[in-house]
Amino acid sequence: MTSRSLAATAVAHPNIALVKYWGKLDEELILPLADSLSMTLDVFPTTTTVRLAPGQAQDCVRIDGSPAAGEPLRRITAFLDRLRIRTGRTERALVETGNTVPVGAGLASSAAGFAALAVAAATAYEAGLDPAGLSRLARRGSGSACRSVFGGFVHWHAAAPGAQDRDHASYAEPLDDVHPGLQPAMIAVLLQTTPKAVSSREAMHRTVATSPLYGSWLRSTREALPSMRSALRAGDLERVGAIAERNALGMHATMETALPPVRYLTPASHHLLAHVRTMRANGEPVWATMDAGPNVKVLCPAVEAPRIAAELAAVSGSPTAIARPGPGAILVAGGV
Ligand code: DP6
Repeated sequence: MTSRSLAATAVAHPNIALVKYWGKLDEELILPLADSLSMTLDVFPTTTTVRLAPGQAQDCVRIDGSPAAGEPLRRITAFLDRLRIRTGRTERALVETGNTVPVGAGLASSAAGFAALAVAAATAYEAGLDPAGLSRLARRGSGSACRSVFGGFVHWHAAAPGAQDRDHASYAEPLDDVHPGLQPAMIAVLLQTTPKAVSSREAMHRTVATSPLYGSWLRSTREALPSMRSALRAGDLERVGAIAERNALGMHATMETALPPVRYLTPASHHLLAHVRTMRANGEPVWATMDAGPNVKVLCPAVEAPRIAAELAAVSGSPTAIARPGPGAILVAGGV
């Protein structure tokens, strides 16, 4: 045990996948079956402080001011245990995390949460990790969190089947070849902000195990990734949007054909998706994507976003938030 008291605070933002991660090769290591690609947002940050607590018998976690218990506490403690084994440190920790987005509503709160926790905890425990190492660490908390370590557009590599060290081979990297003329916005339409009944972890597992469509979706996702990279390089938002919308709809088709089915999309989601299609038929540059929840996110050119967001708010009767590509996870306070 050390007599020092180390603390660190980090901020991270959610990311929304344009080519989705949906299915694990290894559930313990959280290795995906395919590469995925996302945009980190500049809204809804999560701030997490990790303070080492020598002499304390257990980790103590507070989320949005309330003590964590059950599954969230178990996942955070397991995450810190991994870091303690790696660093040879034994201190338990006080973890205080504050979200600005509803938790468990398919708005990527776990991605921002585990990215912020990875950066704060790695600093507090003096793990000495480089950015790829932080991404691997965040991945062990929640797969999509490995992408929120970085800003802008981010590619998460699945470990190649023959990789010697599969844990080492799977991490995210920011793209440095996105066309500078590409100026997108992602409009989140907050149709429902209550926690989902089935976790994305359970839904993903069930889909891989039981959906007859899963194999073909996986093949199409593996094809979508290089097409998405080339559309981003070309600055072709129309192609980016078309690939993203098709990939998201395919992912939802796989889960709706799981046993028992998982249905995150509600009538309100479908109503909005139909409206997005109508807008597009009328020449509007809008494409939809949805994650493990009923909320719809709409990709469009940033200059058009305020007008389009106002229309989506009017059609859905729900609040909207306009996001632009945002920053990676950063340390805002840390050290001894
Ligand atoms: C639909 O990263 O939450 O948002 O690794 O089990 O924690 P675990 O899953 P998680 O799943 C995210 C799924 C998704 C698609 C995506 O973000 O790529």
